[in-house]
Formats: sequence, structure tokens, C-alpha cells
Amino acid sequence: MKKLGIGIIGAGGIAQGCHMPGYASMPDLCEIVAVADTNEAAAKAAAEKFGVPNVFSDYRELLALPDVDAVSVATPNRLHRQPTIDALLAGKHVLCEKPMAMNAQECREMIAAEKQSGMLLQIALQWRFSAIARFMRKFIDGGNMGKVYYARAQALRRREVPGWGVFIDKEQQGGGPLIDIGVHILDFTLFLMGYPKPVTATANIYQAMAKDPKHWNAWGDYDRSKFTVEDFAAGFIRFEDGSAVTLESSFMSNIRQEFFGCQLFGTEAGAELDLFSDDPVTIYTELDQQLFDMKPRNLPRVKSMHTDEVVAFVRAILNGEPSPVPGEQGLILNAIFDAMYRSGESGREERVEL
Ligand SMILES: NC(=O)c1ccc[n+]([C@@H]2O[C@H](COP(=O)([O-])OP(=O)(O)OC[C@H]3O[C@@H](n4cnc5c(N)ncnc54)[C@H](O)[C@@H]3O)[C@@H](O)[C@H]2O)c1
Repeated sequence: MKKLGIGIIGAGGIAQGCHMPGYASMPDLCEIVAVADTNEAAAKAAAEKFGVPNVFSDYRELLALPDVDAVSVATPNRLHRQPTIDALLAGKHVLCEKPMAMNAQECREMIAAEKQSGMLLQIALQWRFSAIARFMRKFIDGGNMGKVYYARAQALRRREVPGWGVFIDKEQQGGGPLIDIGVHILDFTLFLMGYPKPVTATANIYQAMAKDPKHWNAWGDYDRSKFTVEDFAAGFIRFEDGSAVTLESSFMSNIRQEFFGCQLFGTEAGAELDLFSDDPVTIYTELDQQLFDMKPRNLPRVKSMHTDEVVAFVRAILNGEPSPVPGEQGLILNAIFDAMYRSGESGREERVEL
């Protein structure tokens, strides 16, 4: 069988740290044949590190290579839409970084290109491949939680503003912690709830602290005048099946410590999931009118959820299977964020437009 030829568009942190090692872990199935980055030094460094023969500064040259069958789009958020559409229409499968795009309209255009091309589009939301997600999905599918009707999802940092790259620039990213890290915990939570269809969202969006130079940042100082995203967002999302989620996300806030996780409220059991903890899962349930707190002690072994995400992409292409993380779910996340940002301005509950 011919190996899948891989192209990398955007050779920065996530490409070199996660996508390229993921492809390199499957030398029998695929081969990275080209890298493109507007920053030639970054492209060359990545190519050297992984022994990639073709280096471009314009991704369209990479897409013109017949040997490229699939690409990773790992550029800043503003540059997810166009390279993804160009790649799909050039007949390449796409693994696009999260968030899928700047807003829901861009996601719709990407999905239209996917449909038109017949290629596979996967969104890089790797937490679904974590041991916790795998265990919980199976546990919920087994009926052990009953109906999960409510969840509290939090991606909260105390003093961790990412001042490098473009993470604090609304024009480049589309938003701050909500769209950058909130996207992961919301996806993880909705994945466990069976991805119900969102109807409305209400939110408050703040620039409460991070513009003020007096506040110390654990990840180094940054130009406060260039901080144009929110530093904290809190919202409430209603779904068609009657369930609801509260979502909180911050880059900077006065809390005890960083927290990344969620709490699920089910009719038969509840779950507290602390994703960065060594002891990440607690289940709360009842048996014979007695309350039990349970800890799973045999979680599946997952060496790297990033690698597993890339492996899932390659295998889905080779086996002609559907996208492991479809664009339609990336759209749901962006549409929720659009409604939350609109609500932050209007002060009212807003419709989620899918
Ligand atoms: N899944 C995760 O957990 C995770 C973690 C970090 C970042 N990300 C996402 O990955 C994306 C990139 O983030 P990063 O941390 O790697 O940023 P980065 O700044 O390290 O890398 C981005 C790269 O894209 C290049 N680039 C910019 N415009 C380009 C263009 N037109 N063509 C080709 N290359 C171009 C830049 O020169 C840079 O090298 C973002 O969307 C981010 O949200 C995801």
C-alpha cells in the first residue's frame, strides 16, 4: 500500500510538538513530504528535525505537490479557514487545529468545501482521545450515569496569559481564553453529553485584569496595550434536549490555582473530572440508599492523546471511515462562542446560529 503523503501548513509549536511527532510515529503508514510556513526559519527547522524534503514559504506550493495526500493546518486561528478550503478543494484531507475557525460562518464555508471535495476534515480536539474521555464515554454508554442533564465546564488560569505568538490579539485569534482553551473543555464536555444541539447562550465577557500592568503574569510579561481579547468569560448554554452547560474560562483571575475540568450531573451518577490531576476521576453515586464516591483505578493507557488524534486521522483516511472529529462539531463550538460574544455585548440571551 502506498504511504500517505503528509504536508504541514504552519510549522510552529503545535505542529512541531504534536502533529509531526504523531505522523512520525507511523512510518509504515505515512510520511511527511513537505512543510510550509511564512517564517522560513521555522519551516526549515521543522523540516530538518523530521527529515522532510520539501520546504515552502507559500502553502499553495505545498498543495500543488501531487505527493501530498493530507495536510495539517496548524496556523493561527485567522488562517484556518483559507488554507483548509484551499487544501480540500485541491483534493487533500485536512486535520485542522482548534478552534475550527474565527466564527461559525467560516466553519460553514469549510464544511461546504469538505462536502464539495469529498475529502475528510478533522478538527484537532485531542481531549477526546485522552484516557479520561475514553473511560467516561464507555461508562456513560453503559448507562451508568443515567441522563446527563447538566454540566459545569471550566478552563481557568490564575496568571497564565500566553503573551507570545498571537494569543492576545483578537484580530488574529477571534477571542481569548474562551476560544483558545474553553474550546477544549467545552468539546470534552459536549462529547461526553452526546453533543446535544445548542439553542441559546448568555454570557458576560470581561477584560477585568490582564490589560493592567500591575498584575504579575506567571508566563512572562507582555505588551498590555496589545491585549485585545477577553481575560475571563462566563456563560450559560441551553440545549434542545433540555440539558444545559455553564462554561467559565480565564487567562488571568484571582483563584486558588489553574483548573481544567468539568462536573457532570447525571440522574444515576455524577462525575468530577479534573483533567490535569494525577487522580482525575471521581464518580458520585447511590446504591441501596447509601452514597458512594468511586475512583476508577484502571484507566486506559494513552501515551499521547495528540499522537492518538493524528493516528485516528490517518487511519480514517486509509480505511475510508468518517471523520473522527467532524467539522459539524467544530461549527457547534464556534457557533456557541459567537452567541456568547454577542450576548456579552447585548446583555441578553442570544440564539446559537448553526
Ligand atoms: N490542540 C492544542 O492543544 C493546541 C495547542 C496549541 C496551539 N493550538 C492551535 O494551533 C494553532 C497554532 O498555534 P501554535 O501554538 O503552534 O502557534 P505558533 O505561533 O507557534 O505557530 C504558528 C505558525 O504558523 C505560521 N504561519 C502564520 N501564517 C502562515 C501562513 N499564511 N502560512 C503558513 N504558515 C503560517 C507562523 O509563522 C508560525 O510558525 C492555533 O490555532 C492554536 O489554537 C492547539
